[in-house]
Parts: sequence; structure tokens; C-alpha cells
Amino acid sequence: MSTLTLTINKQRYELHDLDPRTTLLDVCRHHLNLTGAKKGCDHGQCGACTMLINGRRINGCLTLAVMHDGDEITTIEGVGMPDNLSALQEAFAKHDAFQCGYCTPGQICSATALIEEVKNQWPSHVSADLQAPDVLQIQEIAERMSGNICRCSAYPNIIKAIKEVLDGDLSEANASTDNHANNNKKGAVSGIWSPPASDVQTPSKTNTDSLAQAKAQVQGVDA
Ligand code: FES
Ligand code: FES
Repeated sequence: MSTLTLTINKQRYELHDLDPRTTLLDVCRHHLNLTGAKKGCDHGQCGACTMLINGRRINGCLTLAVMHDGDEITTIEGVGMPDNLSALQEAFAKHDAFQCGYCTPGQICSATALIEEVKNQWPSHVSADLQAPDVLQIQEIAERMSGNICRCSAYPNIIKAIKEVLDGDLSEANASTDNHANNNKKGAVSGIWSPPASDVQTPSKTNTDSLAQAKAQVQGVDA
């Protein structure tokens, strides 16, 4: 049995007599009552359990809690709460980027890290230019999110939500520096899929009740 200290969402947790075979996902869900990260496959295939460790995304079901003594762990509860949603959580609600919502906490954690990776100009498997990847292309976002499966197939709206936040963040970065690598890509939509104009959803379509419900879903604490 193991004793360890985990720092999750900036809070320290002491765990005693923990079976060293316990995954980080099970520690969060079963020992600490942090149920935002979901268990889909428990085999590293679906991404529902995605969380951030020292800012990098990882499948909580594939890593043992004892490996993370001293690491900074962030789950969806640390990304944003209903009264303080992150920009991505707001965008997921606005664009209706889910149906059942089971994959959503993992999608948002993953996209949170994606945006930082893009800001650091990390290329992806589909980047044509490794020095300056065209990060606003649909296939770039799809590739970078390929570890997160959505059984409801909400992918078009998931990509719209991520692209909106990414676009805004890059625009801000471009405003503060003249030589940003993607300066000329600002606002461009390109790639293998783009929504027809009639498919664009506006906030006015969402009434107050359904928006509140959506916000609870993107925060992911109710299951
Ligand atoms: S539950 Fe971890 S990848 Fe599916
Ligand atoms: S919204 Fe249902 S699995 Fe993604």
C-alpha cells in the first residue's frame, strides 16, 4: 500500500494506504469525488478521462496515481466551474458542441492543452509546414483532437467551438506581435469540412434554461 500527495486543481490531497495499482482516474473519481473526468473505455481509446498533468494532456485511465506525486494535475473542475466557465466551456455551450455530454469534459481538457500547443507552434501529424503549421485548418484541429472520441458525433460543433477560441487567442497574440507565424491565416476557414451558412448557430437560439443546462454539462460534474 502507498501513501502519496497529489496536487489537483491547486488543492493538495493526502492519500494513505492506496493500492499502488490504482489509476489516477479511479483516484479522482472514487477516492476524491472528482467525477468530472469520465471513464469510457478504461483502455486509453476514447479520451473521456483526459486531464492535464503539468499542462500536458494525458489519459487518466492509463496512468497510475503513484506516478504523479508532486505533479500539477488539472481536471475539468479546475478548468472552470459553472459560475466561472473557461472560454472553451462557453464556446462549447454556445455552439451546442455535445449531445449526451459524456465525452465533453475530456474534449475540453484536451482542447485546453491543444490551444497551448498551438501557441507554442507545435506541429501535428498533418502539418505541411513544420515551422508554421496552419492551425486554423479543420484537419489540423481534427488531428489534434483525434484522441477524443465522441459517440454522439458532435464533431462539427466541437471543431467550431475550438476554432472560435483558437481564432480569438491567435488574433490577440497577433495584435501584440507583428511577426506571428499565422498572421496571414487569421479568420480563414479552410480544410476538409466547413459548415453551410444555414448551420451556423447563434446564442439567441439558446434560451436561459437550456444555456444553464449546457453550462452544467460542459463542467461535467453531474455524472
Ligand atoms: S476512459 Fe481513458 S481513454 Fe477511455
Ligand atoms: S456528446 Fe455524447 S459522446 Fe460526445
